[in-house]
Amino acid sequence: MRVLVTGGAGFIGSYIVRALASGGHEPVVLDALLPSAHGPAGAASAVDLPPGVRLTVADVRDRDAVARALSGIDAVCHQAAMVGLGKDFADAPEYVGCNDLGTAVLLGEMAAAGVRALVLAGSMVVYGEGRYDCPAHGPVRPGPRAVADLEAGRFEPLCPVCGAELVPGLVTEEAAGDPRNVYAATKLAQEHLASAWARATGGRALSLRYHNVYGPGMPRDTPYAGVASFFRSALARGEAPRVFEDGCQRRDFVHVRDVASANAAALSDLEERGPGTFDAYNTGSGTPHTIGEMARALSAAHGGPEPVVTGEYRLGDVRHVTADSRRLREELGWKPETDFAAGMREFATAPLRSAR
Ligand SMILES: NC(=O)c1ccc[n+]([C@@H]2O[C@H](COP(=O)([O-])OP(=O)(O)OC[C@H]3O[C@@H](n4cnc5c(N)ncnc54)[C@H](O)[C@@H]3O)[C@@H](O)[C@H]2O)c1
Ligand SMILES: [Zn+2]
Repeated sequence: MRVLVTGGAGFIGSYIVRALASGGHEPVVLDALLPSAHGPAGAASAVDLPPGVRLTVADVRDRDAVARALSGIDAVCHQAAMVGLGKDFADAPEYVGCNDLGTAVLLGEMAAAGVRALVLAGSMVVYGEGRYDCPAHGPVRPGPRAVADLEAGRFEPLCPVCGAELVPGLVTEEAAGDPRNVYAATKLAQEHLASAWARATGGRALSLRYHNVYGPGMPRDTPYAGVASFFRSALARGEAPRVFEDGCQRRDFVHVRDVASANAAALSDLEERGPGTFDAYNTGSGTPHTIGEMARALSAAHGGPEPVVTGEYRLGDVRHVTADSRRLREELGWKPETDFAAGMREFATAPLRSAR
């Protein structure tokens, strides 16, 4: 299969390209080499693609470039996006431009070119807070946390009906979308666009809602990076990882190689699906860990200073979100291969990618 991987020069995309190439497929890459992900212009030389993989340096919003890149393509694996929380709300137009206008242009050109298969890099951020159960009221959806509570160190969301402490659980794909920041809103809109495209064109689309992806080659800390990269970068500078809130936030850390193999599984599964279908799958390791546990595992394996729990918070952050990835395992036959301890040991000393 000849697969166009947008964002294929990025952290996750480059693993997908390698997984597809070694699986006998022919990946081709379209990537704008955004400075927020790759550093100042001229970083093309630093892009690490397997020999023979064609790289088009272009923006997914560039209709002509996308149309050319789609020639002879069987399926698209759409990874290109601006990631992270950004600097502040003034970044919103850039996020919406890259992620949503970019997806619309790509889907429009796929419609025109007759390409009918799409795997989308989805995200657990579409859920907002994860699943919670109240002992009295069953599953409930707490709203955004109040500044006053966060300031006072009250980090756990409470039952919106009775105010009781909640028990965090695993979020399933049926949970309603509740994006809590601009990036999250753009990731949910990408899914809506993909679903509309599938219905309108008879295409087949599948979104893999990645949880917290980590592994060698992760970008260094920037306002656009994830928490594992912040901690790893601090250790590289000889500093202690700074853990926000009380460190008990629960996440699902999934290794980037496992995310790449999920994409390969999704691409071959698309062939079995009916026309006009869209479906979303959680993509997580299945074993939740806290942010504090991750920081300690990295510090220990790096031989660096113990993490410091600071009590700071970021308003857009959710407290707990962990995946129920059973559907991906059962329906696509996918299995994560790298467990938390081994993955963090490797990540603690593996190189990061410089974005400066
Ligand atoms: N890293 C995670 O934990 C995580 C979690 C959930 C979802 N995702 C999603 O996975 C995908 C890949 O993320 P990543 O972590 O590899 O980030 P990354 O920044 O390393 O890779 C993204 C790539 O897309 C390119 N790109 C961005 N906007 C573009 C545009 N308009 N046109 C062309 N290229 C563009 C960038 O240059 C970069 O190479 C994204 O869609 C992201 O939303 C990532
Ligand atoms: Zn209650």
